[in-house]
Amino acid sequence: MKIIYFSVAGQTRRFIQKSPFTNTLEITPLDPFKAIKEPFILITPTYEREITDPVFEFLAYEENARYCMGLVGTGNRNFAELFIFTAKDLAKEFQLPILYSFEFSGTTRDIEKLTEVVEQLESQTITRSNLL
Ligand SMILES: Cc1cc2nc3c(=O)[nH]c(=O)nc-3n(C[C@H](O)[C@H](O)[C@H](O)COP(=O)(O)O)c2cc1C
Repeated sequence: MKIIYFSVAGQTRRFIQKSPFTNTLEITPLDPFKAIKEPFILITPTYEREITDPVFEFLAYEENARYCMGLVGTGNRNFAELFIFTAKDLAKEFQLPILYSFEFSGTTRDIEKLTEVVEQLESQTITRSNLL
């Protein structure tokens, strides 16, 4: 499973660097228009819309939303009801599930949990790919 992520202040990038995931891609604000042709999950931090626009542009590009198996929101629980609102907005706009959430650059436990989620998805992907 490909892991695609966005990172403004580097926390999400740090999470990826300490994770076992190797098939990864960072969305950049300068060129979010990458056409993806394989199943992936998308990890996004939470900021006001003008900062996270590249993530929306990325998902709206070509068939990207169709290949997206789900979203992972990262944020800060001090924001209370605004916790991971970017992932929630994307979920609504693109009709995608939220698979997991964590704070900042994540803990060892977050890496373990997300790895489990990815493994479960991989076992279902063959079925889902048939529908693409
Ligand atoms: C200006 C600012 C606004 C933020 N707003 C929210 C928010 O509304 N909800 C939330 O869950 N996290 C919020 N965060 C926390 C970030 O989403 C969180 O720290 C995330 O891990 C940052 O990832 P990044 O370093 O990869 O950009 C905010 C952080 C900053 C600096």
